[in-house]
Amino acid sequence: METRSESDLIREVPTDLFVGGTWQPAASGDVLPVDDPSTGAVLAEVADASPADGMRALDAAVDAQPAWAATPPRERAEILRRAFDLIMERIDDLALVLTLEMGKPLAESRAEISYGAEFLRWYSEEAVRINGRYTIAPAGGGRILTMKEPVGPCLFITPWNFPLAMGTRKVGPALAAGCTMVVKPARQTPLSMLLFARILEECGLPPGVCNVITTRDSGGVMEPLIRDGRARKLSFTGSTPVGRRLAEQAAAQMLRVSMELGGNAPFVVFADADIEAAVDGAMIAKMRNMGESCVAANRFLVQEPVAADFADRLAARMGDLTVGRGTDDGVDVGPLIDAPAREFVHDLVTDAGTRGARVLTGGQPPAGAGWFYPPTVLCDVTRDARIVDEEIFGPVAPVITFEDEADAVSQANATPFGLIAYIYTRDIGRALRVTERLDVGMVGLNRGIVSNPAAPFGGVKQSGLGKEGGPEGLEEYLTTKYVGIDV
Ligand code: SIN
Repeated sequence: METRSESDLIREVPTDLFVGGTWQPAASGDVLPVDDPSTGAVLAEVADASPADGMRALDAAVDAQPAWAATPPRERAEILRRAFDLIMERIDDLALVLTLEMGKPLAESRAEISYGAEFLRWYSEEAVRINGRYTIAPAGGGRILTMKEPVGPCLFITPWNFPLAMGTRKVGPALAAGCTMVVKPARQTPLSMLLFARILEECGLPPGVCNVITTRDSGGVMEPLIRDGRARKLSFTGSTPVGRRLAEQAAAQMLRVSMELGGNAPFVVFADADIEAAVDGAMIAKMRNMGESCVAANRFLVQEPVAADFADRLAARMGDLTVGRGTDDGVDVGPLIDAPAREFVHDLVTDAGTRGARVLTGGQPPAGAGWFYPPTVLCDVTRDARIVDEEIFGPVAPVITFEDEADAVSQANATPFGLIAYIYTRDIGRALRVTERLDVGMVGLNRGIVSNPAAPFGGVKQSGLGKEGGPEGLEEYLTTKYVGIDV
C-alpha cells in the first residue's frame, strides 16, 4: 500500500464546516489552528464558526428532520453499516490523523477507531428493532399502544480525549433513531470528526442530517442553539462545571440532556486479590489514553498488607513505559493535550509531595517541545492531598491505603463523582457486597476496562445523566408516545 507523508494526509482532511450537505468556510473566513501536542506546531487550520454559522447548521438539521425520521429504518441501518465498513477500511489513515491531533500512540488510536466504529455497527443492528407495544388495559375497557419516535434535532458537544469514539457514540444511536444533528467537536481535535462527516457523506447520508461545525468559541456558538428551542436534545461529554452550565441552558427549553461528565474513579485492591492481575488491570485503567479519560483510575485504594507490594509492582511497570511522539515505533505514552493540562497534572503531583507523598517513579516533566508527562506513581498519599479529590486526567497513580471493607467503601464513595469504580478481589461475596454499596454508574470487577458499545456507559452524582451505548443509549434518542384506544 502506498504510504503518504503526515503532511500529505493532513492536507486531505476537510477543514470547512459541513452544513446542509455542503462544505463551506466560516462566513467570516476566520480559521482556527489545530496543534500537534507532541511538538506544539500547527498541523492544520479549520473554519472558525460564528454563532450565525452555528444557526445555519441548526436550520439545516431542523429542515432535514422530518424526512430523516420518515426514512425506513433499514436505509438508516445500511448507512450506519457502510460507515462502519469505510472507517475500518481507512483505519490506518484515520489513526494517523487522530494521533497527530490528539497525541495518543498509533496503537491506541487504532483501538479508539475500532471502538468508535463499533457504535455504528451496533446501532445499525438496532435501528431495525425499535419497537412500541400494544396491551390490553388492566381493567379490560381499552387498549394501550406505545410508539417510539425520534426525539428530534440534537446538539452534540464532543471532547478532545476520544475525538472519534465520543462522536460516534452519539451520532450512531441518533441516526438509528431517526434524529438529525449539529455536532461541535473540541477545538483541539476537530480533524477526526471532519473526516467522519466526510465518510457519512460518502455513505449516502442525506444533506442536513449530520452537520459539523468547528469553532474556538464553543459557548458563544452553542448557547444560542441550545436556547433556540428547535433542537430537542443536548448530549455533552466533558467536564462537570461545563456540563452543569449547559444543562442550565437546556432547562429553559426543556431539552432532553445526556451528560457524560467528570470522574474520580477508585481502583480498590483487596488483600485477597491476585495482585499481578490487579497490576495488569491498573495499567489499563490508569494508562489507557495517557490517563486522559473520565474512566481513568484516579485513586488506587489498596488494603494495607499488600499496598507496598502493589505500589512497587505498579511503579516498575509504569517506569518501563516509553514516552514519546505517538507516531514513533515503540512509544507507549504520548503527550498530554496542551500546556495547561500538563501544568495541572504537575501541580497535583507537587501538592501531594508537599503533604508527604513519595514519588516511586516519574514526577518531573521532561524539558523540550511537546506536553509530555512521565508515568508517575505516588505512595504514602495523604487524604488531604488535592489529587485525592480532583480528576487527574494524566498518567499519575496515587496509592492510598485502607483498612477493611467498610473503610474501602467509605473512601471510594467520598467524592461528588460517581462514574466508575474498579474492584479486585477473589471473594465473590465481597465483590457483590462492595459493588452494591458503591455510588457509581459502572463497575469493573477484576478488570481495568468496561467500555463496550453494547453496554450502558454513564455515571451518577456529579458524573452525569443518561447512558451511552447499548439499548439504553438508543432510548436516549427516542420518545414514547402513548395512544389510549377505545375498542
Ligand atoms: C471518556 O473518557 O470520556 C470515555 C472513555 C470510554 O468510552 O471508554
